[in-house]
Amino acid sequence: MQTRFLQILSCPKCRGKLTFSADTKEEDVENGSLLCANQHCFPIKNSVPLFSKEEGYNKAFAYIHPHLFCGPLPTLEFRGTKTTIEELTQKEFAEQTGFNPRELRGKWVLDAGCSGGRFISFLRKQGVGIIGVDLQSGRLQQCAHKFKGELASALIQANLFELPFLENSFDFIFSLGVLHHTPDPKEAFMNLVRCLKKGGKIAIWVYPKEPRTVISDFLRPITTRLPLSLLLVLGFVITTLYSPFLKIPRIGPRLVHIFYRIRIPWHEQWKWRMHCFMDWYAPKYQFKYTNEEIRAWFEEAGLINIQSFAYGTSAQGTKV
Ligand SMILES: C[S@@+](CC[C@H](N)C(=O)[O-])C[C@H]1O[C@@H](n2cnc3c(N)ncnc32)[C@H](O)[C@@H]1O
Ligand SMILES: [Zn+2]
Repeated sequence: MQTRFLQILSCPKCRGKLTFSADTKEEDVENGSLLCANQHCFPIKNSVPLFSKEEGYNKAFAYIHPHLFCGPLPTLEFRGTKTTIEELTQKEFAEQTGFNPRELRGKWVLDAGCSGGRFISFLRKQGVGIIGVDLQSGRLQQCAHKFKGELASALIQANLFELPFLENSFDFIFSLGVLHHTPDPKEAFMNLVRCLKKGGKIAIWVYPKEPRTVISDFLRPITTRLPLSLLLVLGFVITTLYSPFLKIPRIGPRLVHIFYRIRIPWHEQWKWRMHCFMDWYAPKYQFKYTNEEIRAWFEEAGLINIQSFAYGTSAQGTKV
């Protein structure tokens, strides 16, 4: 982690200024610690400052992301159309935030809930320096080497309910597919707005309320209580059997429809079917919202120029 990031960090416990501890001398710190005047100390491991303890409710991501999905997801192929994960990321960023990467260059940008940093990788290629924050300590440390020696980007382990940033620090904040997985999405959103500069823009994407989740809403109270290893086996069986059954005339197409209703869409690659299954059925929290509900948060936070987007439930607003 580079020294320049100290200018936006603050102790999440007492809001005091943070400095590197006496034994931490380098400009780009790989291992050391951060300290405030009240002696609150936070380790830096593998270039990632670690601010918060990991929460039990987030175990699903800490389990799924690094173990099952080590390495990039394969090209997504659906009914003959191929999309790479990079193309998907670019499309999602454009349609869920409304931000143009060019306006982010040279600004303070935060990806809240970055996981393995797919949006960070995309934006870095567009010349954007960016800070990623996530609760998953292991995942961030696994990915931090990609940013080594870089002046403009950093990964920081912290909780959205205990952010280690000074108020009014960022020009742009986005949080895509994250808030609905926290115990209090609106509070997490308000915490992010606090870190936004006046005139800064924030964009979020959360799961939409839609009729096709009725069955999975009924199943999730069961699946989220299963041990993750058992859910993984169940997912393996379902997503593997899916493929041969599809070839049965008349039954196959109906199966695709049924599986779509229970939120396991058909993808030619097994890894993607499995990803969809685990991502939907494992996380403890999965709130869903309408665009009107999200707009009400933005209004309550005093944001202006609120724009809602057609991609799921997503919106952008500006702080005054
Ligand atoms: C579905 S993933 C989305 C990752 C990324 N935004 C993307 O679209 O690829 C949700 C992420 O939110 C993170 N997360 C959940 N609760 C969090 C919290 N309270 N503070 C920080 N990160 C959190 C999880 O660790 C996980 O990486
Ligand atoms: Zn402190």
